[in-house]
Amino acid sequence: MYKYNSVVPGDEKKYLNALYDRVEEGLNQGLLPVDVFNDEKVFRAEMERIFTRTWVFVGHESEIPNSGDFMLRKVGLDQVIVTRGSKGEINVLLNHCRHRGTEVCHEDKGNATHFRCPYHGWIYKNNGDFVGAPDMRQAYGGRLDAKKWGLLKAPRVDTIHGLIFTCLSDEGPGLREYLGGAAWMFDAIFGLHPDGVRVLAAPERFIVRADWKSGAENFCGDAYHVGTAHYSATASKFIPGDVRETGPNARGYMFENGHGFIGHALRSWFGPPFELWGYPPEIRAQFDLSHLDETQIDMITNVPPTISTIFPNMSYLRFPQPAQPGEFPLAFTSIRLWQPVAPGVMELWNWIVDYKFMPEEYTKRSYIAGQFGFGSGGIFEQDDTAVWEGIAKVGSSPWSRKEKLQLNYQQVRVEPDPNWKGPGKFFNSIYGEYMQEAFWRRWLKDMREST
Ligand code: FES
Ligand SMILES: [Fe+2]
Repeated sequence: MYKYNSVVPGDEKKYLNALYDRVEEGLNQGLLPVDVFNDEKVFRAEMERIFTRTWVFVGHESEIPNSGDFMLRKVGLDQVIVTRGSKGEINVLLNHCRHRGTEVCHEDKGNATHFRCPYHGWIYKNNGDFVGAPDMRQAYGGRLDAKKWGLLKAPRVDTIHGLIFTCLSDEGPGLREYLGGAAWMFDAIFGLHPDGVRVLAAPERFIVRADWKSGAENFCGDAYHVGTAHYSATASKFIPGDVRETGPNARGYMFENGHGFIGHALRSWFGPPFELWGYPPEIRAQFDLSHLDETQIDMITNVPPTISTIFPNMSYLRFPQPAQPGEFPLAFTSIRLWQPVAPGVMELWNWIVDYKFMPEEYTKRSYIAGQFGFGSGGIFEQDDTAVWEGIAKVGSSPWSRKEKLQLNYQQVRVEPDPNWKGPGKFFNSIYGEYMQEAFWRRWLKDMREST
């Protein structure tokens, strides 16, 4: 349904290098050329230069808890089988048979010790090893070296708090190093109970006619849009309070590699019940904060991280929100992927997660709260995806390209808080678009490398 042309025209590198120069010049002045969105050449380069080289999120360990469990996921455009092998290890395998290339696995999720290709019947173990083929002796006469014909396997898979990441390259930093300060944030977000978190249901997925970078850029630092794009949430009384106060109450946590977190001063905005994201006292009482440092405790008490992007395309969201219009808000947690599909088209993946110890009744209500706001029919999700679709249109607009239209990232410059004791930088204001700039600079770095 969605295509992109894989034929590389001879002048493509030249075109891209000229675009990267324009992006760099633009960013130095707080501007961004629209043609970074919804562009076939840019998309092709992103798939090759970002998604085959960077750590990419593919799911949560609680989705494949048992040996033999597997699930289909995507890394860029490649479909992969994420499996739990017999030793408990996690494997990320390209879902294409080494014989003639067809897809080996057609089940979205399941449990299997082996995968048998539906075309000629080659068989692979769930760790990717080749184990046999029909009529081995007659067909191959011992000439098939099993060691050479296993499924393509990601060289690196690692987890943090059960979040599974993979990197299709064996070069570059390990996951913890890549995440940097974002790993410290994850400790304060997902590490509040020794049993950890679990996903509540299979991820919801839906197509959005928007560039994957629009979601990623929005979640890394855009609290400015909330008062306008999401005003209907206040007008309809879906949520208590006024969304227009979201920007002034937002803060920024900025880390290396384009990872950005928005925090909200929930305690001073809504009062003490909204410490620790507004979890009720009986839940907070079960949290174990003993391994957190002072800065982390102060952060989650006063300005907990609410929204973020881990470069390139994973985001996190935890916010107090009602499960029914007019109800008292409760904290829900969403993990999301802005999954590239084609130029100007993404698939939005949304998981709702909760701590394993949480009572059934709480997790049910938090799931509904999450869906009401950020499910495919959610009030906030609808607002966001509608405006992002507009960006994909201007990205391919002949008139805007002819005029070399640039988008505005010229808010006031704000300086990081000099008293911040945590990793990275903390900003007392979200205005300034420093996070979006960092996201685009990281994007540019990856795109320029090995041009
Ligand atoms: S394509 Fe898989 S066995 Fe032939
Ligand atoms: Fe939004």
